[in-house]
Amino acid sequence: DDKDMSYGYGKIILTGEHSVVHGTHAVAAPITLKMKAKVWDHDKDVRLLIPRWGVEQTIEFGADHKYSIYKSLEMILDHLDLRDKPMNIEVFPEVPRAMGMGGSAALAVAIIRALDKHFELGLGDDDVRRLSFESENIVHGGASGIDNTVSTYGNLIMFQKGTPPKMETLSLKEPIPIVIGLSGVESMTSKMVKRVREQAEIFPQWYEKIFKQMDEIALASKEAIENRDLSQLGMIMNMNHGYLNTLGVSYPDVEELIEIARNNGALGAKLTGGGGGGAMIALCDSEKMQKRIQKKMHENGYDALIAEIKPSTP
Ligand code: PMV
Repeated sequence: DDKDMSYGYGKIILTGEHSVVHGTHAVAAPITLKMKAKVWDHDKDVRLLIPRWGVEQTIEFGADHKYSIYKSLEMILDHLDLRDKPMNIEVFPEVPRAMGMGGSAALAVAIIRALDKHFELGLGDDDVRRLSFESENIVHGGASGIDNTVSTYGNLIMFQKGTPPKMETLSLKEPIPIVIGLSGVESMTSKMVKRVREQAEIFPQWYEKIFKQMDEIALASKEAIENRDLSQLGMIMNMNHGYLNTLGVSYPDVEELIEIARNNGALGAKLTGGGGGGAMIALCDSEKMQKRIQKKMHENGYDALIAEIKPSTP
């Protein structure tokens, strides 16, 4: 029953991934795909159940966990003073795993909200955002906070990292049609974030300028969204992708998907999320274009989702 479920939203980054880690603005939007979770009583132990991924794991506190998700769950339970409560935590994932769509942040948000509901903790959105940020830092190390922020609030925002982060909710008169192309190759967010940081340390004076220009790109994308200038937004996305190539975070399959999108009329196309695999987004001007691009991606052996950028997700 969906009524018992708690949610964390998946997201796409329209502009500014990676540079956002270095302090630039970024624009991101929720998608309708969610992570859903619920908690119920159990006789002993804490169990994490994710049937769709074949996960049925009793959490051993203090163990040397193989997957960061268990480490993050342990931190969350500790923080909420729940480690002695036996329970089942069941997750129903809609967001594909490791596809640069904020799956790990959405998972943390869904679990935190489910714990809050079951144990009546009275957490506010800001508590959820902060705790899911700590979880993201266990999973990624050096996360900007954009994923868990969008996942918590479910709003189209312009974001800048900080304590607390700055966020501005963008309004939108009409949804913007996009296609999300999936490379099928696991996104390497933490590896890519590390790669960018290492390069930036080698060429600090160049990277400073690159990030400055990526910042301007993100700011310009906000304006294009608010003016609903889709052709301008598309060009901005294409330029953003060029900079992401400069940072070295793309992947051959992602490049192929971008080429398919552009060859079939997309107004713009770029990598989204951490890269090194993962997903890309294509900006469209109609449902017809969305369907054509999706079909071409399918013909080339890729999974592709039709989606919309909306001001908020219910
Ligand atoms: O790959 P995802 O969906 O986790 O997106 C990561 C976005 C980055 O900017 C690369 C990292 C971050 O923490 O902002």
